[in-house]
Amino acid sequence: MSRTVKDIVDMKKAGKKISVLTSYDYALASLCDKAGVDILLVGDSAGMVVLGYENTIPVTMEQMEIFVGAVSRAKQNALVVGDLPFMSYQASISDAISNSGRLIKTGADTVKLEGGYVMADTISAIVKTGIPVMGHIGFQPQTTALTQGYKVQGKTFETAKQLIEDAKALEAAGAFSIVLEMVSHEVSKIISESIDIPTIGIGSGLHCDGQVLVIHDILGLYEKLKPKFVKQYLSLSNDVVQAVSKFKSDVGSGLFPAEENWFSMEKEEYEKLKKAF
Ligand code: KIV
Repeated sequence: MSRTVKDIVDMKKAGKKISVLTSYDYALASLCDKAGVDILLVGDSAGMVVLGYENTIPVTMEQMEIFVGAVSRAKQNALVVGDLPFMSYQASISDAISNSGRLIKTGADTVKLEGGYVMADTISAIVKTGIPVMGHIGFQPQTTALTQGYKVQGKTFETAKQLIEDAKALEAAGAFSIVLEMVSHEVSKIISESIDIPTIGIGSGLHCDGQVLVIHDILGLYEKLKPKFVKQYLSLSNDVVQAVSKFKSDVGSGLFPAEENWFSMEKEEYEKLKKAF
């Protein structure tokens, strides 16, 4: 049985940690699902690690629909969260509702959007239509990067207080969980203990109710950024370069293809053919 939003919320109540990985394509999503990850987050980070943009700003709804569709066709057990891209929900509540609907129709179980208390009305309106929402506060790639660059959030009393108020506003608006990105671990602890919905940390320490990382980062597949908070479990980019250069040299030397890689005609048919040509 596939995980539901209630299952995820209940994990916090039961003191069970929630594992979340980003996912954008059928093959890797199937493997993450098979490995038992609780949530597959189809993040707009796809814009960077899959599409090669500098940041997440250019990502469109059409692109997100393609990624959400692929991941939802792969998932058996995990909850699929679809990220609303930049400017798909900020201009009006009506945009936010219709674009959330588009991601749900393509296969997402819930949507995620960035923003603190300013997004509370938008979240509440989406939730009222029956679509569960995951919030996202702290460092917000769609906007904080433009105003402050990559910076840890909640390092002073005032910014910490704002983050705690943001988290409470999102819970009151009906969000079922909140991503805390690059929030100081002291503030993440206070937030996680002050709200009943799960916090999912990325670079926000051990006290969050769950952890999320970008799949390309844990596999060592994306070399442009190496944030301190990432734990790399494999170095696939080295393996891929080695495999591809071996392929190139096998093609050059005639080692590939070998007999087991090609197809043959029936002997008699071949004899006839040879006579004819
Ligand atoms: O887009 C994304 O991948 C995200 C996570 C890293 C939280 O928002």
